[in-house]
Amino acid sequence: MQRLQVESRLASYQVVAEPGALGRLGEVLAAEGLAAPRSLVSDTVVAPLWAQAAAASCGASLLTIPAGEASKCWATVEDLLGRWLERGLHRGELVAAVGGGVVSDLVGFAAAVFLRGIAWVAAPTTLVGMVDAAIGGKTGINLERGKNLVGAFWPPRLVVIDPQALRTLPARELAAGGAEVVKTAWLGDRGLLPVIRDMAQPRFGALPVEVWQELVMRCATVKAGVVSADEREAGPRAALNLGHTLGHALEAATAYRRFLHGEAVAWGLLAAARLGRRRGLLSPAACEELSSAVRALGPLPGIADLAAEAVASHIGRDKKRDDGGVAWVLPSDGGVALGQRVTIDEALEVFTELQKAAS
Ligand SMILES: NC(=O)c1ccc[n+]([C@@H]2O[C@H](COP(=O)([O-])OP(=O)(O)OC[C@H]3O[C@@H](n4cnc5c(N)ncnc54)[C@H](O)[C@@H]3O)[C@@H](O)[C@H]2O)c1
Ligand SMILES: [Zn+2]
Repeated sequence: MQRLQVESRLASYQVVAEPGALGRLGEVLAAEGLAAPRSLVSDTVVAPLWAQAAAASCGASLLTIPAGEASKCWATVEDLLGRWLERGLHRGELVAAVGGGVVSDLVGFAAAVFLRGIAWVAAPTTLVGMVDAAIGGKTGINLERGKNLVGAFWPPRLVVIDPQALRTLPARELAAGGAEVVKTAWLGDRGLLPVIRDMAQPRFGALPVEVWQELVMRCATVKAGVVSADEREAGPRAALNLGHTLGHALEAATAYRRFLHGEAVAWGLLAAARLGRRRGLLSPAACEELSSAVRALGPLPGIADLAAEAVASHIGRDKKRDDGGVAWVLPSDGGVALGQRVTIDEALEVFTELQKAAS
């Protein structure tokens, strides 16, 4: 069992990884000194693939929510809380989340508010879940008005990673998660970039399970380091927004339909690399190091047909058009430069350059 410790102001807990850990979840939890969960929550896709076996191994009843982002809402939280009450779950118990970021965000949030807070464990089954969503203690749901507007800092008791789960993850989801891997590697473990670049071809998904485990645990270590320094967002945690300024704008400009989050972040990383280069923060070699790792993940949904003005207006959505810009996180040779003002005009220019380069 490979493990790492996450230390933060709110809690300290371990992330453990081993191939086959999901099928032996009951054993794994017992070995970590945790009681068996009575309720295990998953989604309709992950349940037959991984969660039924995980639930059986710990004698938990399995609750299944519809797969997809739309489940991350009040109605599902209310439904879950009701089912936990029906089953007589009490304060001292543990619940488990087996699935991607949707399941861990939702179950973590429901656990945070159920009886004013019960313990939970996260068993992420997507690349995004393993390197990002399940680590750091943020939980939450979406409102009609926007994503992740309601939530709580409620770290899990334990994160259990079974790298074998990635075998069934669709290639597109895997590549999208790869963009967060590249981001994380840039922030804290550059040695991973050549691994991604060399091994992404011909098929990212064909990596051996040990390589996946290594990749995931090294990224989890970087994220754990960032959140340990600063669980509640200010300061260093802002570095995690690398690639996200344009990424979020692309998602919003296409009504969240065209890009998976990671795909939009991949474009965001390419834009941030160009901006870093323009500002002299990045050497040509470092710019290429970052960009080539992103490109190695494979083709992205296109941006050529998007109106640059519309995308730019989402970048400055909460700001006035002429306010002197928006703060971006930009890559630098040594890591990242926080709070870099980029005017909307400059963002527009770089976006147009990207469109030309991609067409
Ligand atoms: N809390 C945080 O810090 C944080 C960080 C990043 C992302 N998030 C949140 O995470 C969510 C995105 O997470 P995601 O990308 O994991 O999406 P997801 O949970 O929707 O999973 C993507 C798809 O893959 C399927 N799936 C999951 N595991 C599978 C497997 N092993 N095999 C086959 N199919 C599988 C799911 O059913 C779903 O259809 C967003 O809601 C985002 O806001 C939270
Ligand atoms: Zn992200």
